[in-house]
Amino acid sequence: MRLILLGPPGAGKGTQASVIIKEYNIPHISTGDIFRANIKEGTELGKKAKEYMDKGLLVPDELVVSIVKDRLTEDDCKEGFLLDGFPRTVNQGEALDEELKQMSLELDKVININVEKEVLIQRAIGRRICRDCGATYHVKFNPPKKEGICDVCGGELFQRDDDKVETVKKRIKVYHEQTEPLIDYYTKKGLILNVDGTKPIDAIFEEISEALQG
Ligand code: AP5
Ligand code: MG
Ligand code: ZN
Repeated sequence: MRLILLGPPGAGKGTQASVIIKEYNIPHISTGDIFRANIKEGTELGKKAKEYMDKGLLVPDELVVSIVKDRLTEDDCKEGFLLDGFPRTVNQGEALDEELKQMSLELDKVININVEKEVLIQRAIGRRICRDCGATYHVKFNPPKKEGICDVCGGELFQRDDDKVETVKKRIKVYHEQTEPLIDYYTKKGLILNVDGTKPIDAIFEEISEALQG
C-alpha cells in the first residue's frame, strides 16, 4: 500500500500514521520527524531546517525532495510506504510523481484529514511527545496514564518548539497558501479520500481502513 497523509498542522496525521503502518506493515516516512531527528543530532540539514520550522515556514523544496527520493529507494519501501507531511507543495507533488514514475510505482490513496482551525490550535498547543519513542499524546484529548510520562516506554514527554500558539497560527496560514492546492491536485487524479478528523481517533482509523479495503 502506497499512501500519503494530507492535512493541516494538528489534524492527526502522525496519530493516524502510527496505527495505519501497523495494519499494513509499511514504513512511516514523516519529513517533520526526519528534520527533528536532524536537529537533535545537530546536522547541517537540521540547522538549516530549524531556521524555517521555528518560524512556522516550510523548509525549501530542494532540501526536502532529495531526502524523500533517497528514502523511497530503501528496502523497507518495497511493499509500500506511508508519507506523512510530504508532499506539502504542488512542486513537491510533481517531484514525487516523477520519482514514482521512474520506479514504475503508483500511489493507492491520498488520505485528507479535515479539521477546522480552532480545533487545530487546541490540538497543537496541548500536544506532548515522548522523547524516547516519539509516541504522541494530548493533555486533554489523549492524556498519558501518568502526567508527563509515556505509557509505552516510560520516557519523558515534551512540547515541540513550533507548538506555540503564534507559530501554530502561522503554520495553518502556510498550509492554506502552499499545501491546500494539493487537494485539488490529487482530486483530479482520483486519489483523494476525505475523512472527518474531528471524530475520535479510533473512529477515524476505522473509516480509513474500511475505505482502503473497499
Ligand atoms: P510536521 O512535523 O509534519 O508538522 P505538521 O504538518 O504541522 O503537522 P503536525 O505534526 O503538527 O500535526 P499532525 O497532523 O501530525 O497531528 P498529530 O497526530 O500530532 O512538520 C513540521 C515542520 O517541518 C513544518 O512546519 C515545516 O517547517 C517542516 N516540514 C515538514 N515537512 C515538510 C515538507 N514536506 N516541506 C517543507 N517543510 C516541511 O495530532 C496533534 C494533536 O492532536 C496530538 O496531541 C494528538 O494526540 C491529538 N489528536 C490527534 N487526533 C485526534 C482526534 N481525532 N481527537 C482528539 N485529539 C486528537
Ligand atoms: Mg505530525
Ligand atoms: Zn515513549
